[in-house]
Amino acid sequence: MIINTELEQKGNLFPSNIIAFKKDVDTLYFSTDNDVVLQLTVLRDSVLRFRYTTTGTFDKDFSYAITKYASTGYNQLTIEEDEINYIITTSKLICHIAKEDLKVSLYDAKDNELINQDEAGFHWEESYEFGGNIVKMSKASHDGESYYGLGDKPNHLNMKGKRYQNWVTDSYAYGKDTDPIYKAIPFYTGLHNKKAYGIFFDNTFRSYFDFSHERRNVTSFWADGGEMNYYFIYGPQMQDVIESYTDLTGKPHQLPPLWALGYHQCKWSYYPESKVKEITSTFRKLRIPCDAIYLDIDYMDGFRCFTWNKEYFPDPKRMVKELADDGFKTVAIIDPGIKIDKDYSVFREALEKDYFCKRADGPYMKGKVWPGECYFPDFTNPEVREWWSGLFQELIEDIGIKGVWNDMNEPAVMEVPNKTFPDDVRHNYEGNYCSHRKAHNVYGMQMARATYQGLKKYAYPKRPFVITRAAYSGTQRYTSTWTGDNVATWEHLWIANVQAQRMAMSGFSFAGSDIGGFAEQPQGELFTRWIQLGVFHPFCRVHSSGDHGDQEPWAFDEDVTDIVRKFIELRYQLLPYLYTAFWHHVDQGRPILKSLVLYDQEDVHTHYRTDEFIFGESILVCPILEQNARGRRMYIPRGNWYNYWTNEKVKGGKELWVDADIESMPIFIKEGAIIPKYPIQQYVDELDIDEVFLDVYFKQGKQVSTLFDDAEDGYDYTKGRYSLRTFKLSGKENALIIQQHKEGKYTTKYKTFNLKIYGLPFEVKEIQLDNEVIAISRLIVDEYSNIIIDKDFSELHIIGK
Ligand code: GLC
Repeated sequence: MIINTELEQKGNLFPSNIIAFKKDVDTLYFSTDNDVVLQLTVLRDSVLRFRYTTTGTFDKDFSYAITKYASTGYNQLTIEEDEINYIITTSKLICHIAKEDLKVSLYDAKDNELINQDEAGFHWEESYEFGGNIVKMSKASHDGESYYGLGDKPNHLNMKGKRYQNWVTDSYAYGKDTDPIYKAIPFYTGLHNKKAYGIFFDNTFRSYFDFSHERRNVTSFWADGGEMNYYFIYGPQMQDVIESYTDLTGKPHQLPPLWALGYHQCKWSYYPESKVKEITSTFRKLRIPCDAIYLDIDYMDGFRCFTWNKEYFPDPKRMVKELADDGFKTVAIIDPGIKIDKDYSVFREALEKDYFCKRADGPYMKGKVWPGECYFPDFTNPEVREWWSGLFQELIEDIGIKGVWNDMNEPAVMEVPNKTFPDDVRHNYEGNYCSHRKAHNVYGMQMARATYQGLKKYAYPKRPFVITRAAYSGTQRYTSTWTGDNVATWEHLWIANVQAQRMAMSGFSFAGSDIGGFAEQPQGELFTRWIQLGVFHPFCRVHSSGDHGDQEPWAFDEDVTDIVRKFIELRYQLLPYLYTAFWHHVDQGRPILKSLVLYDQEDVHTHYRTDEFIFGESILVCPILEQNARGRRMYIPRGNWYNYWTNEKVKGGKELWVDADIESMPIFIKEGAIIPKYPIQQYVDELDIDEVFLDVYFKQGKQVSTLFDDAEDGYDYTKGRYSLRTFKLSGKENALIIQQHKEGKYTTKYKTFNLKIYGLPFEVKEIQLDNEVIAISRLIVDEYSNIIIDKDFSELHIIGK
């Protein structure tokens, strides 16, 4: 007879004392009396992985986030023990594991300073309903400690005092306090005592982070299921933490094609063909640079993916070709929901092959999206991904579409309270069958991955271009992203700025917002201010829902068009600079945008700044976020900077008022920087560029700048056909020396550099080029008194009187 039907509530459970220790090359196992095992892997001197089980054995080790290209290897690994701890030492870290309770403390190996320490440490609660555990970790948090990262959270950059959740969610018209939204990137950087470390909690279940919100001196993270499995990444520089995280979860697999860094125009939706053409020809007529035009869902036949509405687009191939002839690349949307329709071949095929997701007891996962009732491919099945990639052949190879936009891939389901699949839906998960609780956060990532593989194959030898809305850690390997359905308000301009920076510190630099706002309609002033910010985001696209009016650069008054043109032109001038920043990102994992804290963590004034950021290596930008503003106060980081508009030099380390009426925005260049610029083009490769401008900003002292070039598309650069120029600037009281070092096998099309020097503190007496004195009269100097020199110079020496 069963008499007690109450569930036994055990509450939080904790590891007991360590009873066994084992070492297996780079992996250490600590087992406790109550069957907890901590598996500690030393990936690098500064990267440790902590993985816990409560049953004595581990499940199969599999992660969608970690790339097979991640660097491994360490210089030192010693293990000692004393009465209290096991002590693991690498060249960067000392890690103590307490024998009594398995708690972890991490110290800097150089100065023995404590970096991070378990408070309650690992603990768990059993989940009666689903089996397994709710896995938890609590760490000590200090009063001066700050926290950054977590992907697309639309809130203050410094997360101290806040609690967040990771569950990829369709969030139309989200606000500052909406959480979670579209992305799940369970990685944060902590900064304490000027030292930065990162924690990547690689668990795809719904997860939570509490940064001293519930308890002032505790930071915790936990998940509804799966393993306590996290990576500890030591800096101490924040930039190193982010680079290591990006190395672990993957850099983009290749550079984007250069055109993808141009300006993109989108709307829901441009149709029919005549409307698309009207838009593209207006760009050319008004001479506003633009590289990409988007087709939203109305290009399809009844929103069926991989079909065309032949009434609106009778001959897509011809249209795409004509657009291409005018310099436009066509990007088309593809959603995951496949319309239930027996006469639709994609549906039939997926049904026959058994590729759709099913509920726990067998029925298909049916949900409403744009086409009405749909089934959804299980993108966590490699065979489904392969099939999906194949579907792109016609679009890419035959019709000539250059990019694909994956939307609604959270996956979004309409008219249901949780906006997505129910928890019981089953997934393949690379053969590790599981429920939607585990697969949800990676569904969109795997869809984007399958799309990417299709584009990569059919666009070859050109590079693929994909954009996704949903993402989990590692998605940056395959695709760019945007921040979803924002709103045309000033608050959202602030949010867009924070999100782009936050994404960059979360390893995902190629991101941008719907410029101008997706929902509702901006006034001309807001649109202008948003463009001014948007041209400094790695992904630069105007998009709007279209129900509230037009949002093209000419939809407002003429002044707006003129200012918008000027800023888009600036982006096109800065393309070589931005492309070089992308190369640093793809090659070294360097974030393209740097929040001030990332730029100068030692300066505590930066720890709570949100508005200012560094674009690339040397351009400081601060958007105007208020209506009717004629300027703003902003923080200038330490060092000397040149005002981009006036060339006036300012000393940083303080707040300043900066004038910026509607035609301007605060932009500063770091002294010593050399900024490469192209002439203005209407689209990438419109002109044969035979000369690149180098804007040189004098500094007393030394500074290094780089310039990366290649064929701007294709894969030749991966075989050494690139050109990397390093400029070493060295300024003295009466001399300026620029040395150039060249690397790579690519011969750039341009022949000369056109140098403009700002802030030279002396009058020029003599110029030597590669050790030869050049009479000033013999120098090629253009009407702006720029110096034109051969691109392959080794040393330019300007001597003062
Ligand atoms: C979603 C997308 C939006 C798109 C719309 C129609 O709301 O976020 O960008 O325009 O769907 O496809």
